[in-house]
Amino acid sequence: MSEAKLFGVSEEWKSRAFIDEARYRDWYRRSIDDPNGFWAEHGRRIDWMKPFTKVKDTSFDPHNVSIKWFEDGTLNISANCIDRHLKDRAGQVAILWEGDDPSESKAITYSELHGHVCRLANVLKAHGVKKGDRVTIYMPMIPEAAYAMLACARIGAIHSVVFGGFSPDSLANRIEDCRSEFVITADEGLRGGRPIPLKANTDKAIERAEQAGATVRTVLVVRRTGGKVAMRDGRDFWYEDEIAKVPAECPAEEMAAEDPLFILYTSGSTGRPKGVLHTSGGYLVWTSMTHQYVFDYHDGDIYWCTADVGWVTGHSYIVYGPLANGATTLIFEGVPNYPTASRFWEVIDKHGVNIFYTAPTAIRALMGAGDGNVQRTSRKSLRLLGSVGEPINPEAWEWYHRVVGDGRCPVVDTWWQTETGGIMITPLPGAIAQKPGSATLPFFGVQPEIVDAEGTALEGPATGNLVIADSWPGQMRTVFGDHERFVQTYFSTYLGKYFTGDGCRRDEDGYYWITGRVDDVINVSGHRMGTAEVESALVAHPKVSEAAVVGYPHDLKGQGIYCYVTLMAGEEPTDDLRKELRNWVRSEIGPIASPDLIQFAPGLPKTRSGKIMRRILRKIAEDDFSNLGDTSTLADPTVVDNLVENRQNKR
Ligand code: PRX
Repeated sequence: MSEAKLFGVSEEWKSRAFIDEARYRDWYRRSIDDPNGFWAEHGRRIDWMKPFTKVKDTSFDPHNVSIKWFEDGTLNISANCIDRHLKDRAGQVAILWEGDDPSESKAITYSELHGHVCRLANVLKAHGVKKGDRVTIYMPMIPEAAYAMLACARIGAIHSVVFGGFSPDSLANRIEDCRSEFVITADEGLRGGRPIPLKANTDKAIERAEQAGATVRTVLVVRRTGGKVAMRDGRDFWYEDEIAKVPAECPAEEMAAEDPLFILYTSGSTGRPKGVLHTSGGYLVWTSMTHQYVFDYHDGDIYWCTADVGWVTGHSYIVYGPLANGATTLIFEGVPNYPTASRFWEVIDKHGVNIFYTAPTAIRALMGAGDGNVQRTSRKSLRLLGSVGEPINPEAWEWYHRVVGDGRCPVVDTWWQTETGGIMITPLPGAIAQKPGSATLPFFGVQPEIVDAEGTALEGPATGNLVIADSWPGQMRTVFGDHERFVQTYFSTYLGKYFTGDGCRRDEDGYYWITGRVDDVINVSGHRMGTAEVESALVAHPKVSEAAVVGYPHDLKGQGIYCYVTLMAGEEPTDDLRKELRNWVRSEIGPIASPDLIQFAPGLPKTRSGKIMRRILRKIAEDDFSNLGDTSTLADPTVVDNLVENRQNKR
């Protein structure tokens, strides 16, 4: 859109940033024309134990999808994130921790981080964890969560972090899927003053996972709140007891570039969440390089990403990218509105935060709380603002820029996914003028294309589906235990290209505007969810015979969860039942999956072959009745009238 506002790059930013416009154009061209040369150079930004001689070896051919980067190099990620900084910055703060309660915070230096991670790595070894074993981490936002990830990386174990807001069932599925025998958790988490029963959830999850054939041998429990928890003899151990028994030195295991680093479960269109697998070398090159250039990170900066380590943003931009760069990274345990809606801005002032990275859903909520909450804080330390997780509406972007950043901080709207490992489309603050709502231009090595339904790449300004034409170092390598699912999900829709699942528009300046998911994935407050997961939770309820779930536009959450539910014969559609179903889904998946609206539907629109026509359900949920399309192929067209008549009120 030519009428979109343009926020140009200031003179100050042109000269201070690592990358100005000329360098962006130059490097970008080289990264595409000569990927081997470009990445051979930038691959050296991290420390290798044995240098690589091969660079890119990748194929998106659906008969043979294979992605390898820097394949013959060896390294250790924890040594890159810790040991290599000890020479020059042992006493510098690596992790700044801000507790849920504003009176609690602490600083951990690189030298202290080394000790914590080595000890925990030794505890894992003492309990029999070996290279390649999976370790599940179900933790609150405390420094021990980062120690746990880095300790796994140190000995070559593969971590699977599960968001602390997930239910016992969700945790059980994830433990079972990767057959993890070791779990690290805490007695309780603390968010907004309320305890979260992590250990009790873990106990339930293990019981369920074991019924399904898994075995959990050891549970390590960090004491966070001191709340009373059950400890099973021989299986459950206190973290503080165990680390006291082991030395504070642990050699870093030599890992191949393509050895797995972590599994992170994420939702797709169908079936259970899949275990996205990331490996070592390419992932660290990608996350450290994007962290440096997108946030224009300079030595001494205080950097804060508000994500949870349970999501990929926390992996790449709280832990691995920043620590690989020797940064000071802030870990925040709490929520944006506790004790007041000024909390974020107070934390920025308290710690002198220079770079701040958060999600549109938080920005919208805080915008709604009023400018006064922001204006009574200074925020003078801020230099750069970032956004991630969902499309940011231009009003929220401009508020973030004008009120939070006092009009002086560039906003980087970063588009990426769990699968991409790190940032893919984004402004670089010293190089690329911003348009509110647009993720702007691709990072080095990223080749976005917009394709039509047939998969033809469109030229110039265009709207269609977003694919990436060739591999980049941070890309996921496979779905854990199911390579065929990886191939089917990402490379079979548009042959030979990575399909993102997102719709997108490219304007006349070549800027990309992500319009949201085009598959059956919804994005609720920046949390990614498969509608199929919510449906299967609903149909597991004894009173539900059938369910269909779609997203609808929601002012604060971006998308809300709209459920059409058909009850078993004889069941009454009451408000109490609505409440019961809502609680049911919360306990099956977790509070983030709580349905916003539930419509009882005597029938769902189906084709004669029995397929639910979700397009129609989506339109009704969006209040877009004029445009229901062709309903003549339905087995029973009258169900649509009933659905329209009884649609749930949004307000
Ligand atoms: O739809 C896109 C949206 O979030 C999806 C990826 O979700 P997840 O794997 O959970 O990772 C979130 C954090 C990287 C994408 O397919 N998304 C993410 N960032 C943006 C976005 N949509 C628009 N603009 C963004 N900046």
